[in-house]
Amino acid sequence: MSNLSVPAAAPARSEWWADAVVYQIYPRSFADGNGDGMGDLRGIVARLPYLERLGVDAIWLSPFYKSPQADGGYDVADYRQVDPLFGSLADFDAMLQDAHSRGMKVIVDLVPNHTSDEHVWFQAALASPPGSPERERYIFRPGRDEIPGSGDGNRAPNNWRSIFGGPAWSRIPAADGSPGDWYLHLFDTKQPDLNWENPEVQEEMRSVLRFWLDRGVDGFRVDVAHGMVKEKGLPDWDGVAAMVEGTAGTRPGPTPPGDAPGAHTDAEEPHRAVSPVYPPSPFFDQDGVHEIYRDWHRVLAEYGSDRMMVAEAWVEPAERLALYVRPDEMQQAFNFDFLLAGWDAERLAEAVEASLAAAASVGAPCTWVLSNHDTVRHPTRFGLSDPTAFPKGIAADDEQPDAALGLARARAATLVSLALPGSAYLYQGEELGLPEHTTLPAAARQDPTFFRTRGAETGRDGCRVPLPWSGDLPGYGFSDRLNGQAAQPWLPQPESFGPLAADRQDGVEGSTLELYRAALAFRFAHKLGRGAVSWADVHAPDSGLLAFHNGDVLVLANMGFASAPVPEGYAVALSSGPEPAEEWTAMREVPVDYAVYLLRK
Ligand code: GLC
Repeated sequence: MSNLSVPAAAPARSEWWADAVVYQIYPRSFADGNGDGMGDLRGIVARLPYLERLGVDAIWLSPFYKSPQADGGYDVADYRQVDPLFGSLADFDAMLQDAHSRGMKVIVDLVPNHTSDEHVWFQAALASPPGSPERERYIFRPGRDEIPGSGDGNRAPNNWRSIFGGPAWSRIPAADGSPGDWYLHLFDTKQPDLNWENPEVQEEMRSVLRFWLDRGVDGFRVDVAHGMVKEKGLPDWDGVAAMVEGTAGTRPGPTPPGDAPGAHTDAEEPHRAVSPVYPPSPFFDQDGVHEIYRDWHRVLAEYGSDRMMVAEAWVEPAERLALYVRPDEMQQAFNFDFLLAGWDAERLAEAVEASLAAAASVGAPCTWVLSNHDTVRHPTRFGLSDPTAFPKGIAADDEQPDAALGLARARAATLVSLALPGSAYLYQGEELGLPEHTTLPAAARQDPTFFRTRGAETGRDGCRVPLPWSGDLPGYGFSDRLNGQAAQPWLPQPESFGPLAADRQDGVEGSTLELYRAALAFRFAHKLGRGAVSWADVHAPDSGLLAFHNGDVLVLANMGFASAPVPEGYAVALSSGPEPAEEWTAMREVPVDYAVYLLRK
């Protein structure tokens, strides 16, 4: 790590997204407007004033499209319809208009790597013969022979594994009922991969972009943006062994709830899964994906310079990620290096430095993200004995976090991320300091990763628990009670949510909600999103102190083992600690697990 100033990544761009604070809504779990226990678009509308008051610039909605919900909606059956669970297109339009009238932009999720198996295209493919145009929209292949030369086709076409565990191929029956061809699904069996070499697929996704752009959306979060293009010939991959290492199932195999799809075609297989970032593979981060983004860039440009795309691409190193945000591709990419760094000054400093440098090399703004709907919430990760750990879900028989310690660190990490130049992404509920639900009963779990790995991975349900709006109401006010009645929230909430409910924190000095409000206001007032970072003299990551200047602000985050002095001439303007604001000016030391914003006296 150099001690030099990090490269100035002051976004040269004037567009709104260059420094936007974007709030991620996971629609199932944000707010329920019709009392069925499932969040929906009307629930979102009812809470827009809350988000406006929080001070975010934009909202990003995870998928709300028509879907059998085999993967929480990331299995899209119709890209142009709202699933009745969430409302209607008219509800979407009303939500968009309301958000816009409050000055908030709206980003929707685009899932181009795969459709649902219930999409009309996949249904048509199943009903059509091998080699037909219907089959060519997906990746169907004959199997390899188990008995060489027999033509039995009993082995999958290659050795790829699903990101959710189990094989990445499933076999379908031929027209005469005998075993037929196999199709590729990098995720669940109910998420067949599209064939991106097919011009019809390319044209369809352009048309989907235009459909939502015409309705007025401001941008797209592109799901699995490093997927889509596969290496020619679909070769076996020797990284498979590394992928599955250490993740063999140790718990008894769970049974999927109700008709939950997922684990059905591979029950006899070893149940394993992969880490979010892994070595170069023939199915991720192929150079050919960039052609798609150049194409989409042109589509967005038809609508002016204000529309944007943000890539969900788990790739390394930062220079590879920067390729996605070259001037003629996407506008942003999630900075997962920052998320993966944990509560560790050296790792964080390295992530900040490397990502600012990589983004600056292509003239793009950085993004900063600590939590999302796929990862254990950061107050929980930071409360583990190793605060850099990245578990794939936490169950009751795993190590349980120190909640108070984790929350203190999370609040401090949030001050760091909101003080960095570029765009910040917040995950719903982090402004309340919500922890992961770490004791969800197996019977309540819904994430296909839990089933496909036979419980080796606990999965992502624990970060998707419905939000607590009111400490005193049943379901903590998640559901609007129609006629005094409401169904149970779709996932059970832990008791720890009660005191963290939005209404218990509103107006309460020292609460996490008020800290977020204050930090967002401070970021805006001091234009931190448009600033540039240089390491401060006292920056000493090897002893746990992260310290940087951004404009007139000095940021100190103490991840070490002893208090750090407040440098001469400075006073605390905002602290992540619980002390009342009037005590800040007298603070001469930054305690361990605190972050502060300092201004010259
Ligand atoms: C992305 C989404 C995740 C989903 C997967 C498959 O990683 O964030 O929730 O399961 O893609 O679409």
